[in-house]
Amino acid sequence: MKKIHVAPLEKCRASVNVQGDKSISHRAVIIGSIAKGTTRVTNFLEASDTLDTVKVYTALGVKIEKKKDEYYIYGNGLYSLNQPGQQLYVGNSGTDIRLSLGVLAAQHFTSVITGDNQIVKRPMARVLEPLSLMGAKFESRGGKAPVTVHGQTLKGIKYKLPMASAQVKSAILLAALHANGETVITEPAKSRDHTERMLEYFGARIKVKNNTVTIKPGKELAAKPVFVPGDISSAAYFIIAGLMVKNSRISVKDIGLNPTRVGLIEVMKKMGAKIVIRNLKEKNGEPVGDVVVKTSKLKGTIIKGDMIPKLIDEIPVIAVAAAFAKGKTVIMNAEELRYKETDRIETVVKNLKLIGVKAFSTPDGMVIEGNNGTPFKYASIDSFGDHRIAMAFSVAALSGENGMLIKDIECVDTSFPKFYETIASLR
Ligand code: S3P
Repeated sequence: MKKIHVAPLEKCRASVNVQGDKSISHRAVIIGSIAKGTTRVTNFLEASDTLDTVKVYTALGVKIEKKKDEYYIYGNGLYSLNQPGQQLYVGNSGTDIRLSLGVLAAQHFTSVITGDNQIVKRPMARVLEPLSLMGAKFESRGGKAPVTVHGQTLKGIKYKLPMASAQVKSAILLAALHANGETVITEPAKSRDHTERMLEYFGARIKVKNNTVTIKPGKELAAKPVFVPGDISSAAYFIIAGLMVKNSRISVKDIGLNPTRVGLIEVMKKMGAKIVIRNLKEKNGEPVGDVVVKTSKLKGTIIKGDMIPKLIDEIPVIAVAAAFAKGKTVIMNAEELRYKETDRIETVVKNLKLIGVKAFSTPDGMVIEGNNGTPFKYASIDSFGDHRIAMAFSVAALSGENGMLIKDIECVDTSFPKFYETIASLR
């Protein structure tokens, strides 16, 4: 297992680029694979999660190639996938397995899909249930992977999601493209809408009104070029580093600023952060811009409700910022964190305590007593094989007395293989 000592940082003036958005990269491969024509993807995220998605769709008979720095997906339409000759393996990717279950449910062949030791522990019933209502047939280990999918002709449904989840919503939308009759999905709070945006861009008959999406099948998707913006979930580490490290100014270029993803910026501003957005533009239906931050005095806040899905993956690093702020931060309605790569409520609180922060977990969140800018204690941090824990505590280390030892760091490859290279560029 690889480990790294991340040393404290005295000050920082830097302009950084982060790698492409993971959610959009997955969708470009999956939607490109069932579209008609060639989808050319620029700034595709080359990380283990998204490269596993490339492998899955290659195993389903789609030709996907890399030329220079771009990925080309040669799709042949909604019913062009072939029965794979092997089990489909998604590695660590929840997005890949859940979205692909939606695609596979509607194919006229049987397939088996599974993933690594974290994936086989994560709940799949949340996707299998609505897809079964559409007529899909599955066999699973009590709602967990490996899942055997017996593809069927599906019918449209009206479905109310019990939780805000873009992965569940997207699985249903992808299945619905192949179903008889329209499908209407309502979420309790709006989760990221990259699938809706990309399907619309590819010509699907899809309508969104508040938290409800309606999709009508019966039309092939038309391939289009996709530019993948920088991942705001990866930018988050550098945004928060810039706010916490003394005498700093960090700009992160060409970041996806989709309103369903910018909760981090909204909450940090409420906590007193100096953040400005520059060069806002739109690319293939997704807003993109530069984020510039300066060292700021942060204060505690409450994070709850509709805000949670807009920053769900950023909560570990927001917790680190909260630990450095003045006053208390309360995070609630975030039970979904317990179903991520690790139970992120427990893995965050455990590591915060190790670095001298007063924090405790609650059933649906955590309470953090900010230390008002006191450097964190040195500790040896276990990432528990969770990329977001490794990266969040690497940011904490930059504001530590003596830095920190971060263990089991291979996991950063799932979303941001250049993370430690980018951290080094700050010095
Ligand atoms: C994702 C959705 C989120 C997020 C995950 C990626 C996606 O999960 O945590 O990292 O690409 O659809 P939910 O399904 O809980 O929204």
